[in-house]
Amino acid sequence: MYRQDLAYIHDTGHADYAIKSAPGILALLAQQALRGGLIVDLGCGSGWSAQAFTQTGYPVLGVDQSEDLLAIARRRVPQATFHRASLYEYPIPTCQAVTSVGECLNYRSEQDFPPLGGSQQLLTSLFQRIFQALIPGGLFIFDIAEPGQLTTPGAVKTFTEGDDWLVLVEKAEDPVRAVLTRRIITLRRVNNTYRRDDEVHTLQLYPASTIAKQLEQSGFEVQLTTCYGDFVLPPAHSVLIAHKPT
Ligand SMILES: C[S@@+](CC[C@H](N)C(=O)[O-])C[C@H]1O[C@@H](n2cnc3c(N)ncnc32)[C@H](O)[C@@H]1O
Repeated sequence: MYRQDLAYIHDTGHADYAIKSAPGILALLAQQALRGGLIVDLGCGSGWSAQAFTQTGYPVLGVDQSEDLLAIARRRVPQATFHRASLYEYPIPTCQAVTSVGECLNYRSEQDFPPLGGSQQLLTSLFQRIFQALIPGGLFIFDIAEPGQLTTPGAVKTFTEGDDWLVLVEKAEDPVRAVLTRRIITLRRVNNTYRRDDEVHTLQLYPASTIAKQLEQSGFEVQLTTCYGDFVLPPAHSVLIAHKPT
């Protein structure tokens, strides 16, 4: 997932989400007087959030499973630390905040997830580990994609283009299993020819209220919203702000 060409395209063409969410996240940290302590960014991608956090004075540890995205992140933010791991397995160190921007917790991979239906258990154990890792007063801030990604039945095909790339996406939502499948074809210009790659991303969709309850059961106080500061997420997405009580 997120092999070389999609990693490049995500970094150059889809950086908006991470760049626009950062000021809102930093404002939440400042409101809680969380300054200068470690931020662990789960699903850090190519390091756009890590760059914004680092520039504001936070040490950052980024975790992602894509080596190709991490290679870009390491070049972008040499002063941050990046690890290749599944966020469901990585031992999260003591920190002031945990962030996860851009639907990272929706992604299903066969190696992490038991057959469909077992996802909630995996999230519960992740939430418990994050709760343990956070200092009292610490924040866990992330967004999720919810059921209802597609408003019409059947598959939807779209494309996006950049100077030297084209990406074609076919999306289909299974409302019974609450699963979104994205079939992604990338075309990237390399040595005057266009190189093709194909990926399939499977996302388990969760109602935000269900996730909020799970967080509360793990000990967090939870606030649900649809924006990071001024940056309003697309429809059927929510931001969860989970606070570890002091
Ligand atoms: C839509 S991208 C968002 C990346 C970055 N946070 C951003 O906003 O640009 C989702 C990210 O989650 C990562 N990811 C998905 N499942 C993961 C897992 N189980 N462990 C680690 N990273 C994961 C992907 O590799 C990808 O970088």
